[in-house]
Amino acid sequence: MEYTVNKIVFPNKNPLDCIVLPIYEKYKLSKIAKKINIISNNYILNILKENNIEGKINQNIILYRIPNILCKRIFIIGCGIKNKINRNKNKLIINNTINILKKYSFKEVNWYLTDLKIYDLNLYWNIRDTIYLIEHNIYSFHKFKKNKYFFKTKIKFIITNNNDDTYHDAITHAKIINLGIKKAKDLANLPPNICTPKYLSKKAKELTKKYQNINVKIINIKNMKKLGMNTYLSVSRGAKNKPFISIIKYNNNYKSKPIILLGKGITFDSGGLSLKPSNNMEEMKYDMCGAAAVYGSLHIIAELQLPVNVIGILAGCENMPDGNSYRPGDIIKTLSGINVEITNTDAEGRLILCDILTYIEKYNPKYVIDIATLTGACVVALGTNISGLMSNSSKLSNKIIKASLEADDRVWKLPIDDINYFNQLKSNSADLINSSNHIAGAITAACFLSKFTKKYNWVHIDIAGTAWYYINNKAMASGRPINMLIQFLFNEIK
Ligand code: BES
Ligand code: MN
Ligand code: ZN
Repeated sequence: MEYTVNKIVFPNKNPLDCIVLPIYEKYKLSKIAKKINIISNNYILNILKENNIEGKINQNIILYRIPNILCKRIFIIGCGIKNKINRNKNKLIINNTINILKKYSFKEVNWYLTDLKIYDLNLYWNIRDTIYLIEHNIYSFHKFKKNKYFFKTKIKFIITNNNDDTYHDAITHAKIINLGIKKAKDLANLPPNICTPKYLSKKAKELTKKYQNINVKIINIKNMKKLGMNTYLSVSRGAKNKPFISIIKYNNNYKSKPIILLGKGITFDSGGLSLKPSNNMEEMKYDMCGAAAVYGSLHIIAELQLPVNVIGILAGCENMPDGNSYRPGDIIKTLSGINVEITNTDAEGRLILCDILTYIEKYNPKYVIDIATLTGACVVALGTNISGLMSNSSKLSNKIIKASLEADDRVWKLPIDDINYFNQLKSNSADLINSSNHIAGAITAACFLSKFTKKYNWVHIDIAGTAWYYINNKAMASGRPINMLIQFLFNEIK
């Protein structure tokens, strides 16, 4: 896809391929639609009235052979009541437009929707949202398909009456950010027989070839044993695919302490001996979506050469049942020295994350953000469009919430500061149990992690509900919460 901005194009003068033309409710024409209607001797209004397309949100029609207009087609899209369009309605309008346009192969589309006044959206975010939604709608994972789907067109955003030049930044940012999101989706959508912990480490190492200020360090099974990452190792014990932790260091600001992005990278979560039911178990290849989001973010950070000091960590591991698997009942000493009694081998995410949370103390981080498909309970609590946020720092969590609202990549804060939650994690034989099999599962998982994050500001993002979504009842990676993470970093630079 190609995106450019044009200031004022008169559609009757150029032989354009297609223009996207907004109209408002009750047959109110937008400025440009009025112009075309006059030139075409009322053709537009007549057709709209004949078809009862009065401009309600998402009513639409494609017109051909418009009198006195050189443009081959005009796609008319209803935008609802003028002055009442907000960011959410704008998303609906864009989604509808692109879903229809993608059925055709127009070479070039002149997009007049960016010219609408939206009361809670500036030009920068209008363009960012638009490009994000277009890329999201046309994404397809076709690596293993004979019939590959490609949709390609040039989109020209038309801006008529504006002195606002934030569109330069909007287009640059959107192109790079959405490429990173695509890379994250492509990685997450790979099947678990290809995307193994080792594969994640290969992808991490590839980054060093492309970007000079990225260095990658891999922690393999030997190193883990030496270090004493015993809970990490125990999760991996049943799997033939060995665990690898990839530490991706990007530094373009040597003066500041690092911001650490830690992604859960369980490349397949069978549950281990606490085996999951077979229904939809294939979706557990997405249990590495946290790692995929970190990987995509690092691409973006390096491509934009952001002046930040960031360490991205892909916590690669596989959770499988086997004669050598860790068992419910085992007591394992974490890297921090805390002993954990395993009560459920399916609560594995917190067991790999806790050892890394201890390991990264040595970096003296400014902030630590972990991103993990951690609990089904988070999906029950917040559904599939809002990620869970839990934190030991209100300063950091407020920053994340702010970024998530700006980027429209939402999170909601859940509390972890009540003693009752911690009481659920008590063991009679060790310091902690790993799974309370009880109420408030998203929170108790975070409480478990918080035992290992005492030395720094930390926020945990549970993306179990948001990391993938469904098209035709089948799962597809979403690339979330990359938009939020990058916005957080943008705000840190300001
Ligand atoms: N990866 C899962 C969480 C998950 C479940 C993500 C469904 C997305 C959709 C995690 O490892 C897990 O199995 N969690 C358990 C924890 C429980 C045993 C305390 C869960 O949520 O059931
Ligand atoms: Mn699990
Ligand atoms: Zn898991």
